[in-house]
Amino acid sequence: MSAVLTMICIKRPTMPLTSEPTHWQALPNAPQPGTPLLALEALQDGQALMHSVASVGAGEPTKPFLMLLLRSGNTVKAYANRCAHFGVPLAARQDLLIFTPHTSISCNVHYARYRWEDGLCVSGDCEGESLLSIPVVVNAQGMVCIGPDSV
Ligand code: FES
Repeated sequence: MSAVLTMICIKRPTMPLTSEPTHWQALPNAPQPGTPLLALEALQDGQALMHSVASVGAGEPTKPFLMLLLRSGNTVKAYANRCAHFGVPLAARQDLLIFTPHTSISCNVHYARYRWEDGLCVSGDCEGESLLSIPVVVNAQGMVCIGPDSV
């Protein structure tokens, strides 16, 4: 008896479906410059951390702002936790976040891989696109804070 193998190939879109927004401050509930995030010592060297910032102000509570903090030495890079492919978080939980310390971070939906240093997608369906970079500074008290936009 012979078996018939039928293959079904469903191709994902190769172009990003979510080209907007192009700047982190255009995302809902983006924190203001100066917003403290966490102590630098709470972030291990080579760690990529999912971090959420609660919205502040009057009115109804809103969704927190989701970001990624990547430490390399005393340098911290920050990106919106938003894949350039479909605009979804790179991972739903910290333990699902895929990264190679100091090198890259990947989306766990379709595995686009982004460079640690600048958030450029170097492989995957959104190659050439970037994570939205967020300026951060470490202040004199050792707190990582949202920086001015020119950082
Ligand atoms: S949603 Fe497709 S690679 Fe992230």
